[in-house]
Order: sequence, then structure tokens, then C-alpha cells
Amino acid sequence: MNPETTPSAAAAPQAGEPRMPASGLRRKDLVGIAELTVEEIALILDTAAAMKEISSRPIKKVPALRGKTVVNLFFEASTRTRTSFEIAEKRLSADTLNIAASTSSVVKGETLADTVHNIEAMSPDLLVVRHSSSGACHFLSRICRAGVINAGDGMHEHPTQALLDAFTIRERKGRIAGLKVAICGDLLHSRVLRSNVQLLTRMGADVWLCGPPTLMPVGFERTGAHVTSSIDEAVEGADAVMMLRIQLERMLGGYFPTLREYFNVFGMTPARVRRARPDVLVMHPGPMNRGVEIDSELADGPSSVILDQVANGVAVRMAVLYLLSGGADHEAVA
Ligand code: CP
Repeated sequence: MNPETTPSAAAAPQAGEPRMPASGLRRKDLVGIAELTVEEIALILDTAAAMKEISSRPIKKVPALRGKTVVNLFFEASTRTRTSFEIAEKRLSADTLNIAASTSSVVKGETLADTVHNIEAMSPDLLVVRHSSSGACHFLSRICRAGVINAGDGMHEHPTQALLDAFTIRERKGRIAGLKVAICGDLLHSRVLRSNVQLLTRMGADVWLCGPPTLMPVGFERTGAHVTSSIDEAVEGADAVMMLRIQLERMLGGYFPTLREYFNVFGMTPARVRRARPDVLVMHPGPMNRGVEIDSELADGPSSVILDQVANGVAVRMAVLYLLSGGADHEAVA
């Protein structure tokens, strides 16, 4: 890679800011946190810290991915992820285009494999994929020449969300190791949970999971996280509280009596969050169900970093795009 065109040349690091890495991730795809090493996670977070400065410039653009083509292929609705990937791609000067399932030939019955093979015939470098089926991105990573970035697949993983959550915690607290992070809500249906538990436990956080027993996946104790159905226990002394959306669209049955009862027992309120540390971070990946899993006063209050998470999503996605497509060792990946 030409150093003149890399963000390291374009984004002169400030004092104390991490320098841009000389080489990328030694992999073609980012399908899940599960496959990343601690060193790779740290590399992405450090690269994102350098990328963030680009978004504060009057001209928010560097030529790092000039000549690369990125296709955003969204088979499920998205506001934050799709928009921030597109902004990240544009800030790195990639050629970018968006395909939504509703306006593609998927509605005429074309299979996922056929759709992607046809897109690949036009030589993209990276595919950013959101799909309702868990495992869709693993499948595509095996059949595609282009790199595949998972933008959320069913109930499996949402790796860039976990990376931006970790980035936000580290930016605010200066570290992740040793912090108590409570993740509360609809754990069963959450790909954000699955990515975050792996990332945060591996980075040394003390992770507490809380939700109704009907929305608690089995086996999460094995990750090293604590599991409880007491929201007070989960929040007690927490450094960060991450609320997860009730995913009504993925629920086939009744998991709790009513939304009002859910809020009364598991909703995060200013009163409940007072059990946490005074400098607690209130987090939510969005979209929020106000008055269901989180009280509006908290979501919009001084402890909320919910919009910081969104802003940091651009930097983290710039880092992932750069490291997957721009690394000097990219061609060496089998
Ligand atoms: N956090 C998140 O994935 O939001 P979107 O569904 O709007 O992309």
C-alpha cells in the first residue's frame, strides 16, 4: 500500500493517539467476534481511534480505499449500520453501492447464492451483508471471492456493533478490563449480545447478563459471564449498562405478559440505574423501544452514550474496511 494514500499519512496522530497500523488483518472476512483474536480486536480498536479524527476534519475524506468497490447488501431493515457503513466507505473514498432486498430480484425468488454470484461477476472487493438467517454470512464467506463483513445475521452475531460498543467504553473509561458491564433485555434474540459477550469477556470485563428467564439463552455461563434475572443485581456497581431491544419481530410466542409488565420488572429507569456507579455509561445499540426496555429520561440523560455509539460506528467501520481491504498482507491470506 502506498503510504501517501493511507490514513496514517493523511491522519497525523495527535500526541498520545495510536498510530495507524502498517498492515491489515490477515483474513478475508469479518463474520464474527468468535473468530477474532484479542490482538485483532485491539488492532481494530486502535485503528478506529486514528480513523475517528478524519470525521472531525472540514473535508472528511482520505483516499485509502480509492479504486475499491464495496457493496452493501441488506436483506433486513437497518438505519445505523447501513448508513454508517456507507459513510465509512465514502470517507475512505471507496466506490460504494447499496442493494436492498425489497428492490432486488430476491423478491422474484432469486436465491442468496445466485444473487451474490451475480454481484460478484461485477468484481466488488467487499460485501457488507445483513441477513435474517443466522449463518448467512459464514455461507457467503465460503462461496465469495470478495471479503464478507457481517452487518448482522439473524440471532448469530453483529461484530461491528460489539466493536463500536467496546470502542465507546474504552474511549470513555480508558480501559475495558476489570469493568462491570451489565447487558439487560431480550438476550435470547440478540446478535448484539452474542458478539458483545465474546468481545467483552475476552477483553477482561466482568459481564453480567440479565433478562426474564423466558428470554435467557442457555449455556451463557460457559462464556464466563454472570447470569441473573435480578436487574438490581446486574446493575449494582456497574460501569456500563447496555440495554437490548425487545425483538418482537423474532418472537413467535408470548415471552412475557405485557410490555407494561416487562418495563415494570426489567425496564431501565433513573431509579434503577442509581445502583450503578455515578459515572455509569448508559448504552443501547438501537433502535430503542422507549418505555419498554429503557426510560426516555435515561436514554436522553447525561449518562447516555447512545449517540456516541452511533458516531463511533463510523470510525470502527472505517477501521474494519481499511484493515480488511488495505492491509499489506491481504494477498497472503489463503
Ligand atoms: N444497531 C443496529 O444494528 O441498528 P440498525 O438495525 O438500525 O442498523
